Amino acid sequence: MYGITGYSNGYHQNQQQHSSEEKRGGGRRRRGGRRSRHPPGFRVFDHHHHHYNNDDDDDKQEQKAPPPCTDFDMAYFHSYAHVGIHEEMIKDRVRTDTYRAAIMQHQSFIEGKVVMDVGCGTGILSIFCAQAGAKRVYAVDASDIALQANEVVKANNLAEKIIVLHGRVEDVEIDEEVDVIISEWMGYMLLYESMLGSVITARDRWLKHGGLILPSNATLYMAPITHPDRYNDSIEFWRNVYGIDMSAMLQLAKQCAFEEPCVETITGENVLTWPHVVKHVDCYTIQHDELESVSTRYKFQSMMRAPLHGFAFWFDVEFSGPTNSPTNNHIPSLLTGASNNNHIDGIQKKKRANPNEALVLSTAPEDPPTHWQQTLIYFYDPIEVEQDQIIEGSLTLSQSKENRRFMNIHLEYSSGGRSYVKESVMR
Ligand SMILES: C[S@@+](CC[C@H](N)C(=O)[O-])C[C@H]1O[C@@H](n2cnc3c(N)ncnc32)[C@H](O)[C@@H]1O
Repeated sequence: MYGITGYSNGYHQNQQQHSSEEKRGGGRRRRGGRRSRHPPGFRVFDHHHHHYNNDDDDDKQEQKAPPPCTDFDMAYFHSYAHVGIHEEMIKDRVRTDTYRAAIMQHQSFIEGKVVMDVGCGTGILSIFCAQAGAKRVYAVDASDIALQANEVVKANNLAEKIIVLHGRVEDVEIDEEVDVIISEWMGYMLLYESMLGSVITARDRWLKHGGLILPSNATLYMAPITHPDRYNDSIEFWRNVYGIDMSAMLQLAKQCAFEEPCVETITGENVLTWPHVVKHVDCYTIQHDELESVSTRYKFQSMMRAPLHGFAFWFDVEFSGPTNSPTNNHIPSLLTGASNNNHIDGIQKKKRANPNEALVLSTAPEDPPTHWQQTLIYFYDPIEVEQDQIIEGSLTLSQSKENRRFMNIHLEYSSGGRSYVKESVMR
């Protein structure tokens, strides 16, 4: 996924990881266009060849003009042309195995049907869908990685079934509706990189009534954390360096380590309470404007006495069928009562209300690690909290005006009678 921290974006992982490009996998490098070369026979969308087929338009395609492809978008797609980012995603077995299992679990929806893979990357999910018996798969990607996907498809003798379209979902044209949309669109903190908007666009343009979207819903969570090792490692360290008092470095160290969100792996032991649901996304119904800004109020009750170092964010996605399927109601997983803003989140029990046993891809601290890890917003200074102490406030995540793929984070928190505000940008 986009934004595997590294290269020139200024987006932090923890300090130890800064020097390890290998650990970060791919990344973003900013350079020119996205349609440099393409072999003969490769289906490239361009404005002279508007449709994959040449039949008449249908009503669903009579949409308003697509948003312009900005320089930021070009840089974004360019970042996905690098092999490392795809290698990291594919090697994330939790991610890739769950997608494959979800495709196989929904084989009855896919067999003999038309599928669109929104952001196909190397084509791996399209190929899983072909293996599940799809009649035709439109594999769409605006990055030059689509050139590779086309080669992979041909080498696996799937060119008759999988049509690779090199272009933005917002720009390409196909002349039929699709039964299934599959996409791996989730960014850090779920919404970073704003790819979900492209899934909404594809859904509104091409998905048949009653069609399937995988994943079907997603939930972003937050919880207060304690992480003394991390704080000591980055901050307290400066108090005594080879016997020298370097406390003069403390302010700078806090600023550099904690100004922006960090992508790191924590464990359940770092988490002080049950989580709060920041946002639930139903992929069948979510609208573009809901993604521009997401706000929530939270109230936690610490389960223990500990220094509070900040908040952790993670998400899960569920793979369930369309509403009208008798076996799939796409009932979202819920933390019982946790999204109730008037409730104290900290005393809620984590319980999945999921009678359909939908497959879940989780990035929670207590679950096996994924390449998304968790996203942490650290305070500059810890707050000592007692057991049962209330930690409350509000959070707003909004698409940056500068680049809608960046995320502005406005966090207000108070505990023990003091209030704080922290603004950060995930870029
Ligand atoms: C997270 S990667 C997933 C790749 C692949 N589906 C997989 O699972 O390995 C997302 C891909 O979507 C592509 N993408 C994002 N937004 C897109 C858009 N609006 N139109 C076409 N491709 C897009 C990116 O270029 C990238 O290759």
